[in-house]
Amino acid sequence: MSGPAKLRAQGKVRDVYDIGGDRLLLVATDRISAFDVVLPNPIPDKGRVLSGLSLFWFERTADVVGNHVLSADRRDFPEPFGSEPSLAGRAMLVRKAEVIPVECVARGYLTGSGLKQYRAEGHVCGVPLPPGLVESSRLPEPIFTPTTKAAEGHDLPLTFEETVDLVGRGLAERLRELTIAVYERGAEVALERGIIVADTKFEFGFAGGELILVDEVLTPDSSRFWPADGYAPGRVQPSFDKQYVRDWLDASAWDHEPPPPELPPEVVSRTASKYREAYERITGERFDWYVRRMRVPPESNWESCQVDLERLRREHG
Ligand SMILES: Nc1ncnc2c1ncn2[C@@H]1O[C@H](COP(=O)(O)OP(=O)(O)O)[C@@H](O)[C@H]1O
Ligand SMILES: [Mg+2]
Repeated sequence: MSGPAKLRAQGKVRDVYDIGGDRLLLVATDRISAFDVVLPNPIPDKGRVLSGLSLFWFERTADVVGNHVLSADRRDFPEPFGSEPSLAGRAMLVRKAEVIPVECVARGYLTGSGLKQYRAEGHVCGVPLPPGLVESSRLPEPIFTPTTKAAEGHDLPLTFEETVDLVGRGLAERLRELTIAVYERGAEVALERGIIVADTKFEFGFAGGELILVDEVLTPDSSRFWPADGYAPGRVQPSFDKQYVRDWLDASAWDHEPPPPELPPEVVSRTASKYREAYERITGERFDWYVRRMRVPPESNWESCQVDLERLRREHG
């Protein structure tokens, strides 16, 4: 074995374990964050949805860019993780990468912070856009709108030249090219299944000298998914992503500063359904088949997972 495992980081959503050598175990918990703050309620099955969708996309983009996945099969995990049923379907053995400190955002449609910046300044992250665009407009072509990757608090928009200052021109150009290419692949596959990918965020890193796609890919946490059926610019679209929770939080008049409010049970269960539905619509696979395929034992329900993941954090913290 490769020595004792150590909790290297607890992100907003993932627990990241250093397991020795050049590998990490990335565990997607059921935590949910909104406006960069972790909410008090876990969303049942959310971690498994994120992992299942990321795996689906890593496979379907591997010809565009290599990625960090080594295995999501629990039997390949080093001990003690191999014997943790709570990790089945939600953890991934990955190549440890030097993560590039830029959030690589691609937008095919105009909404959210992009729309806000367009209305105020006529461009998004320095990319000029034609006049007359409205909420949810499809852009003439997908654009690269990177942001900083803030350790805490909010990410700030970067122009392409600012990205060049941060990482160098060659790498900035490569990131832009890969971001658009992976977005286009995702948008094409999703549209065949009746889903519009309005925008999405990727992270890239270097492992063994190779530029690879890391973190999560085209999930409801990192993307805006709209039903293609009924899409109409000029208004906000219904979605299969976190927008439902953001809207509820906005209606609750929370100021986006901690502490965040408790989500009512019906908001938790509707959010859980939206995540599962995103999985099913995009992959075409029933979520409970994914759970079975990943060998999640029937007794591993989401509540026991909270307890097990907490114990792992304690034992390896
Ligand atoms: N292959 C990898 N190597 C190193 N770090 C990674 C890799 N994949 C993802 N990460 C990092 O692990 C963390 C994932 O945890 P997450 O909860 O998503 O964090 P965040 O709160 O920053 O969104 C992120 O900081 C991400 O950059
Ligand atoms: Mg993240």
